[in-house]
Amino acid sequence: MLNIILFGPPGSGKGTQAAKLVEKYDLVHVSTGDLLRSEISQKSDLGMEAKKYMDQGNLVPDEVVIGMIDNKLADNRDSKGLILDGFPRTVAQANALNMVLAKHTTSISTVLALQVSDEELKDRLLKRGATSGRADDQDESIIANRINVYKEQTAVVGQFYAKEGKFQEVAGEGEINEIFARLTAQIEAVMA
Ligand code: AP5
Ligand code: MG
Repeated sequence: MLNIILFGPPGSGKGTQAAKLVEKYDLVHVSTGDLLRSEISQKSDLGMEAKKYMDQGNLVPDEVVIGMIDNKLADNRDSKGLILDGFPRTVAQANALNMVLAKHTTSISTVLALQVSDEELKDRLLKRGATSGRADDQDESIIANRINVYKEQTAVVGQFYAKEGKFQEVAGEGEINEIFARLTAQIEAVMA
């Protein structure tokens, strides 16, 4: 399997690029944010619990997202591979992911980390907030908190994969198609 983690702060373009990569390489898109928002729209117990954290821009507890991922991987064990978007976000999640993948006799192929300045992230998210309806895009202080949570709790996940020799930075500003070309160049190198 080709299992790619698309890594980066809120608004760095993970969802945008994941949609294009899924199409090009025929992979399954796994976005924990999208899975959680779908739980919220169904008003499930899990969704109502997660909403309290998401609306403030804080991380949902590890056990909640790890359980969701376990189910999602079990459902897609015959796929060509996965694009993981917004997961793992803590070292505990990264360890759990390694165990789940090993259970399915597969592993992470590469981690591609989109690099975008804080100013650009804030601009993109506030702009999207005007139309997205996402509670966590509306307020400058919640957006700032999301970026802070990334720096304090998620950035270390990059070092986790760097130790495994799987971490690559990709410039994430500019035209969407240019960034896509940078990502696919890295993926072709990994596949070769
Ligand atoms: P999640 O849904 O993962 O959101 P996020 O990481 O905060 O980031 P976004 O989805 O907002 O940004 P993105 O990087 O996907 O960028 P996008 O392509 O949309 O998580 C939401 C919440 O769920 C978390 O805060 C947490 O509470 C919870 N959660 C999720 N996963 C979790 C986990 N594993 N553990 C614990 N909690 C978890 O682009 C952003 C905008 O920019 C768009 O409007 C887009 O059109 C635009 N854009 C994209 N590319 C460009 C470009 N090149 N130039 C200009 N604009 C661009
Ligand atoms: Mg996203």
